[in-house]
Amino acid sequence: MITLSERACAKINLTLDVLSKRDDGYHDLRSVMQTVSLCDDVEIDVDTGRPWKLTCDAASIPADERNLAWKAARVFFDRIGRGPDGIEIRIRKRIPSEAGLAGGSADAAAVLRALNRWAGASLSTEALCDLGALVGSDVPFCVLGGTALAEGRGERLTKLPDAPELQLVICKPPVAFATPALFKRLDSVEIREQPDTDAMRQALQDGDSVKIASLLCNVFEQAVSDRPEIEAIKAALLRHGALGASMTGSGSAVFGIFRSPEDAKSTCKALRTNGLQTFTAKTV
Ligand code: C5P
Repeated sequence: MITLSERACAKINLTLDVLSKRDDGYHDLRSVMQTVSLCDDVEIDVDTGRPWKLTCDAASIPADERNLAWKAARVFFDRIGRGPDGIEIRIRKRIPSEAGLAGGSADAAAVLRALNRWAGASLSTEALCDLGALVGSDVPFCVLGGTALAEGRGERLTKLPDAPELQLVICKPPVAFATPALFKRLDSVEIREQPDTDAMRQALQDGDSVKIASLLCNVFEQAVSDRPEIEAIKAALLRHGALGASMTGSGSAVFGIFRSPEDAKSTCKALRTNGLQTFTAKTV
């Protein structure tokens, strides 16, 4: 038996635009996505000689076929033409769920990367991303990592210049938004402000952290404008000196970009109140 270990990094959306509803029920997106250091740990025992098993240290996460990490193992073994028996996946969660940080997708991507390494890297990154798309819209980006433009339903990826090292504070309020419901809501509201994706690409090219922070924009914020929590967290991050702040994905986590690790650390501590989970992280 061997044990594979893989870091499963969360993602944030530096920009997120929802362009149109498609006939298959999904929406076409345009989003600059970024991997961050906040991560889960994924371990996989291979060839245990026992039936497959998944465990997760967070009681609220399903440790069965509903878990995206399990779906990822399934599609990988289907692809290489063997059964999943003899696999034990253990997930240690740090990424909060229902946050827009792609926690479940990150775990799935880690499983795909680890199993592919074990199988002698027989699949290219592109093929692994294609497998990821069978599991969920954010999984291909999590397989690729770094800084990328995601289009289509999230699976069409263009690598962008790596973001400079950005010091982040991520805050997760107790409220959770259901992703399909938020997409539906966006269909019925007039989107007033859209991100300037080209300007964000240029800011990344220039390595300009201040400009990147000033261009953060997520249209989903306009679908949750009735929720005071999001605006309140953004205001608190800006009050503590954030260069910019935005909700990530379909929420409910909000992140701010800070000038220094010290500023991020003190803000993280100051905002950690009853119910609000806070994390420092950086772009990776
Ligand atoms: O692909 P995933 O399972 O993560 O998507 C969850 C749900 O979010 C979809 O069923 C769909 O309702 C919505 N979605 C969408 N457009 C996308 C991605 C997700 O409408 N590009």
